[in-house]
This record gives sequence, structure tokens and C-alpha cells, in this order.
Amino acid sequence: MRSAKFITFEGVDGAGKSTHLEWFADTLRKRGIDLLVTREPGGTLLGERLREILLNQPMHAETEAMLMFAARREHVEQVIRPALQCGTWVISDRFSDASFAYQGGGRGVPLAKLEQLEQWVHGDLQPHLTLLFDIPIEIARQRLSNNVSLDRFEQERGEFFERVRQAYLARVARNPQRFAVIHAEKTLPEVQKALAKIVATL
Ligand code: TMP
Repeated sequence: MRSAKFITFEGVDGAGKSTHLEWFADTLRKRGIDLLVTREPGGTLLGERLREILLNQPMHAETEAMLMFAARREHVEQVIRPALQCGTWVISDRFSDASFAYQGGGRGVPLAKLEQLEQWVHGDLQPHLTLLFDIPIEIARQRLSNNVSLDRFEQERGEFFERVRQAYLARVARNPQRFAVIHAEKTLPEVQKALAKIVATL
């Protein structure tokens, strides 16, 4: 495998990560880096069908966790690994940290079960870098309130998102070398300045 990097973007709904992802990807492309932008759940034909179900259909928390990882299995095998093997960088809007945060922290699925799924689905493949867009939940909720329609996750209560946020921060504490934490409540130029610093290190 050449030096292609696998970078993931994470954060609670309403943190603004998808907007920042576009800017980050454009900045890397302008530097001549060949890269692919993808997302989870999704990124493959089957993954996008599972996304539709996951975002709309009520289900048991463990079913939800297993479907997230099933979609991820396709994504890793069909998209992520092949791209990295060709030297193409991959930026994914969410990956396994989201399962630990949402299904683990938010829904209470035991971490040991999620770790087994993670090991099974992509044991030897981990992101080189994960950008966590951290934001106080009240601000994220305010931003979401402008959306006309909210999916099954976005409709959750504030306490759910507080648990998701804390679970993300616990992931950072366990893997500090992999994460960069971005204060997503800051203004767009301030966030872009922080992102530009990260691009410079890559
Ligand atoms: P998105 O809105 O960032 O595209 O993500 C869709 C939703 O899916 C978001 O509310 C978080 C949720 N999600 C999980 O609960 N677990 C996961 O493993 C992933 C990838 C996403």
C-alpha cells in the first residue's frame, strides 16, 4: 500500500462537519492529491439502501449496530481498501467511531459487542486521522431546528446527543494520536483556519 491516507470526519448531528468536509477535500485536491469522498452509512449501492432503512425504520439498538457494521463491511471491501491500494486518499463522512458514539453512547449497546464487530469488519484498517467536530449540544440542536425534515437520529432528544458527544470524547481520550478535535461552534473562518493547519501537517 502506498502512502494514501484514510481520513474520517465525525461529530454529533448539527456540528456542520459535512460543510467543512467539502472545504477540506477541495483544499487537498488543490494541492494535487487524488482523493475520494464517501460517507457512512452508505458509500456503496447496498450501503445506501441500508442507510435509507437505518435513518427511517425503528429497530432494536443491536440490530441498528449490526446493520451499521454490515454496511461498513461492504464499504471497506468495495470502496475504501481498493482506493487506498491504488494510492487514492479516502475521506469518509463518518466511520466506526460513529457506531461507538451513537449505538454505544447514545443507545447503550455494550462496547465489548461493538469492539467484536469492529474487529470482524475492519480489524487491521483504522483511519490515519479522525477530525471530531465537537460542539455544545444546545448549539447543535439550534442548528438542526432549521431543517425541514429530521431523520430518526436527528429526532432524538438532547440527552441522547449529550451521551453521543461524551462517547466521542471518550474515544479521543483512548486514541489521542489519531484524533484532531475541532471546536465546531466557532465561526466558519476560524474553523477553516484550524482545518488549514491540519492540511499543512498532512
Ligand atoms: P449523517 O447525517 O452524518 O450522514 O449520518 C447519518 C446518521 O447516522 C447520523 O445521525 C449518525 C448515524 N450513524 C450512527 O448512528 N452510527 C454509525 O455507525 C453511523 C456511520 C452513522
